[in-house]
Amino acid sequence: MLQDTLEEGREGADRALERLLPPATLHPISIHKAMRHSVFAGGKRLRPILCREAGRMVAGTLPSDIDELGAALEMLHTYSLIHDDLPALDNDDLRRGRPTCHVVFGEAIAILAGDALQTQAYEALARLPCPAEARTRIIEEIAHATGTIDGMIGGQVIDLEAEHSKPDLTTLEYIHRAKTAALITASLVSGGLYAGGADDQIQRLRSFGQQIGLAFQIVDDVLDLTQTSEQLGKTAGKDMAAEKTTYPALFGINESLKKADELVANALAQLEPFGERAGTLKELARYLVERKK
Ligand code: IPE
Ligand code: IPE
Ligand code: MG
Ligand code: MG
Ligand code: MG
Repeated sequence: MLQDTLEEGREGADRALERLLPPATLHPISIHKAMRHSVFAGGKRLRPILCREAGRMVAGTLPSDIDELGAALEMLHTYSLIHDDLPALDNDDLRRGRPTCHVVFGEAIAILAGDALQTQAYEALARLPCPAEARTRIIEEIAHATGTIDGMIGGQVIDLEAEHSKPDLTTLEYIHRAKTAALITASLVSGGLYAGGADDQIQRLRSFGQQIGLAFQIVDDVLDLTQTSEQLGKTAGKDMAAEKTTYPALFGINESLKKADELVANALAQLEPFGERAGTLKELARYLVERKK
């Protein structure tokens, strides 16, 4: 069941990305190759999957063309990964089991490939086949979630500035909520908006997303310590080496995992009013903390 959700979601996202991204043969070739190198490198496609399942839960059936929205979210996520790996940020040379974008194409093209995935995402969002009011709300939601105020970029800034300092809980929570939970929340909220969700439904998706998003980054921090680079497809043990502010650095592995479990339990409670329709999102929430990569 969960496997079907993950596989069907990944295939849907991949098909939409294939449609929306310029072919690698199109001029200027180097940047289109670089964008595709990072996008089609075997990511889990969790944000598109959460988006389509939120849409399915709200509408009762899968809303048509929702994978266009998922693809835009995945482009923004991939842009954040390309920039996260740059020498000026985390300086990583392995991502999704492949050499990072800047290792293959050079720093300049990698920076531009991240930028290009961002503009491509907004082009796709502007063309979403849904009512104009929903489209505008979706664009605002996603732009805010990836921006500087409690969004992805803001989180990345504090993540970097907090390196080599003694972790404190306020900073730690801010970093994780902003750099990771915000886009995960926007994926769920935008899926709900695309499906025509009512305000109270959107509010529940938002609260669910904030909690599973934080749990997701706690688990990312734990996996960095407990898995190998081969298992993760990215360099393990980096956080400790860079003295990052992480949950295990402050609480240890077991306590961190306990916190992630508690967050998921609270998140699941948010979905109760959706009844049986919430089954798939609940399964996905548990998967986010039980995953091994
Ligand atoms: C990795 O995200 C970066 C974080 C926000 C923790 P994912 O674990 O979703 O990475 P992919 O998309 O599967 O490569
Ligand atoms: C990155 O967090 C979150 C992003 C906004 C990309 P990490 O730096 O922990 O992500 P990984 O571990 O490199 O995937
Ligand atoms: Mg980072
Ligand atoms: Mg990183
Ligand atoms: Mg990490």
